[in-house]
Amino acid sequence: MTNSQVPALKDLYQHAFKMGVAVSEDVLERKAPLIAHHFNSVTAENVMKFESLQPEEGVFDFESSDRIVRYAMQNGMAVRGHTLVWHNQTPDWVFEGEDGKPASRDLLLQRMKKHIDTVMKHYEEEITTWDVVNEAISDKGSDLLRSSKWRELIGDDFIEHAFRFAHEANPKAQLFYNDYNEVNPEKADKIYQMLQSLIEKGVPIHGLGLQCHWNVGTPEIATIKAALEKYASLGLRLHVTEMDVSIYPHGEEAKRFDTPPAERLEQQANRYEQFFQLFHSYRNVIDSVTFWGVDDSYTWLDHFPVPNRKNWPFVFDEQSNPKAAFWEIANIFERNK
Ligand code: GLA
Repeated sequence: MTNSQVPALKDLYQHAFKMGVAVSEDVLERKAPLIAHHFNSVTAENVMKFESLQPEEGVFDFESSDRIVRYAMQNGMAVRGHTLVWHNQTPDWVFEGEDGKPASRDLLLQRMKKHIDTVMKHYEEEITTWDVVNEAISDKGSDLLRSSKWRELIGDDFIEHAFRFAHEANPKAQLFYNDYNEVNPEKADKIYQMLQSLIEKGVPIHGLGLQCHWNVGTPEIATIKAALEKYASLGLRLHVTEMDVSIYPHGEEAKRFDTPPAERLEQQANRYEQFFQLFHSYRNVIDSVTFWGVDDSYTWLDHFPVPNRKNWPFVFDEQSNPKAAFWEIANIFERNK
C-alpha cells in the first residue's frame, strides 16, 4: 500500500481536532511526504527553544525554525510554538548578572520580555498558538512549583509575567501552559490550582497542553478521564502536545527488546484505540493532538529513561508503514457507525 492509499489521519479527524507532529529539520527532510499526508499541525522538537533562538544575548537565530515554519505554510499546516519559558534548554547567560552574580529580578524579567516579544513578533502571522510556560509544576511533595532559576530569581509570579508579556507581544495568540505527568491525580490537582489562580487574577491564558508521554501500561483510562474533566471545568482549551506510547511500562528499565514483540504492539494498538476514543469524546474541548515524533525510526525515547534502548512508540513503524495502532485509530469511526 503506498502512502497515498493510506487514509490521512488529518482527514479522518478533521471534524474533531488537528493532528500534529513534532519535527526536527532532519526528520522533516526525510519524511516530508508522510508528514504532509497525515498531519495539519507541526511543532518544532527543539529549534524554537530558548537556547536555539537566542544562544547569546541579543543574537537571535531563526534559520532552522524558519525552515520548519516555511514548510508548514507551504503545506497549509498550523504551527504550535514551543516553548518560551522553561527551566531546560535555556542558556546560562539568561540567568547571569554582572560580575558573575545571578541576574536581578528586573534584569531577568527584562530578558524574558525581550525574548518573548522578539520571537512572537517574528512569527506574528504564522504562529498563533504558543506554549508560553513549560513544566513549572513540581512532581513531588507539597511544593506547588518546581524550583528553577526563573522561579528563584524572579519569584513565583514569573509565570504570570510570561503570559502577560506574551499577550502584549501578540494579542491574537492562544497562550498555553504545557506539562507532563498531567493526568497523575496529585499533579493534576496542582496544575488545576495554578491555572485557576492565573484565571482568577485575569492572566491571559487560553489553554493547557497535555504532553501525554504514556506507555502500554499506564495511565489508566479512568485516570485520564478524571483529569480531562477537571481541566475542562476551567473553561480552557486542551491540546495533546507530545504524545507517544512507550512499549515499556514503568518499572521495566532493565528490559530491552531488539525488535518489538508482537504482543506489545497489540497492547500498544489497544491503548492507542482507547486514548483516541477518549480524545474524540472530548473533541469539544480538545483542539489538537500532536505526536512527539513521526515514526519509529526516531524517538527521544530511544535515549530516555534508558540510554541507547530502542523504543517504538508511534503509529508508523521504522519504514513509515502504518502499524496496528494506526489502523485502530483510523478505524474508530468505522466501528462507531
Ligand atoms: C519535554 C519537552 C519537550 C521535549 C521532551 C523530550 O516533554 O516539553 O520539548 O524536550 O521533553 O524530548
